[in-house]
Amino acid sequence: MALRITRKRPATSRASKPSCTGHFGITIKTASLTNTVPHFPSRVTIVDVGPRDGLQNEKQLIDVAVKVELVDRLTAAGVRNIEVTSFVSPKWVPQMADGADVMAKIKRKAGVVYSVLVPNMKGFEAALGSKPDEVVVFGAASEAFSQKNINCSIAESIERFGPVTEAARAKGIHVRGAISCAVGCPYQGEVKPAAVGYVARLMKDIGVQHVGVADTIGVGTPRATQASMEAALAVYDIADVSGHFHDTYGQAVANIYACLEVGIATFDSSIAGLGGCPYAKGATGNVATEDVLYLMQGLGIETGIDLKQVVATGQWVSGILGRKAFARAGNAISAKLAA
Ligand code: HMG
Ligand code: MG
Repeated sequence: MALRITRKRPATSRASKPSCTGHFGITIKTASLTNTVPHFPSRVTIVDVGPRDGLQNEKQLIDVAVKVELVDRLTAAGVRNIEVTSFVSPKWVPQMADGADVMAKIKRKAGVVYSVLVPNMKGFEAALGSKPDEVVVFGAASEAFSQKNINCSIAESIERFGPVTEAARAKGIHVRGAISCAVGCPYQGEVKPAAVGYVARLMKDIGVQHVGVADTIGVGTPRATQASMEAALAVYDIADVSGHFHDTYGQAVANIYACLEVGIATFDSSIAGLGGCPYAKGATGNVATEDVLYLMQGLGIETGIDLKQVVATGQWVSGILGRKAFARAGNAISAKLAA
């Protein structure tokens, strides 16, 4: 698929030229590769969604103290955007019922954006006391998923998000929109980029400031992911589009690389690869923050985040949850440090 990229890109760094000789002494034709060496962003923003997207899926109720410590550790490691919790029905997602308590107890650092999810005005009003820096309204590119996740159609969701967006912006709170099932839906199957573009347009029209294109069930591969991104980029500026990739099929790092190729510079990830969506059965957690940081480090892209501290945090929270972290780089780095 040929992607037309004509927009202005953020500050970039040129990746190094591919070598002429491969690992096994095989000569590689470099001419065509050299022509396609992409201009990557020189800096990337990581939004750690672990405390919300990660923990919302845990069956065992997790102590507020653990949730607070997780957010505080991420802050200390240099993460500048953290999705802390959601203000949704406790009947639907019991794990997030303590959102206000968690928000009240975290140690906030100036310059860090602490976000919360709100599906409607009731959630927004409940969130206000917690003084979030950003609220996230969450819709879907699939009608079936919209019904299952938030019990309404796409059109109805936009009607709910409109007043939330207006009220939030009137108070100076940034509004992000999540577009779930941007590549595939657990109920409907394949989702076309046009459906992503359609929801992005609806969100833009009600004043949502940024859209996160989400592969909820992790079925996307690089070209399909780029096509979804392009649909959102037809509506939003490149700085206002981010990628959110669950790693169910192990494609998330490749999909992030594909997004870097088109100049996207904001990605959601989850510490230790925690999580999933309770309304997308079988979907695993988001791509691990550790793995994304390792990728960025290798590409020479700045994040401002201390990888070792993040690895330690991922190991710590996985220990509390009684399992191994779903972070390939995280586990490898941790093992190396322990040796
Ligand atoms: P509903 O049942 O249609 O709501 O649920 P309703 O307006 O008919 O109200 C029913 C009851 O819920 C009432 O209480 C309301 O007060 C209460 P009752 O009178 O029966 O006692 N209620 C609320 N309570 C607390 N907070 C609220 C709220 N709203 C109504 N905000 C609703 C609609 C949206 C509330 C429900 O479907 C819901 O809570 N869904 C949450 C689903 C969710 O959190 N999913 C996971 C997050 S999304 C995600 O993970 C995807 C993402 O990561 C991107 C990706 O990967 O795709 C973002
Ligand atoms: Mg998600």
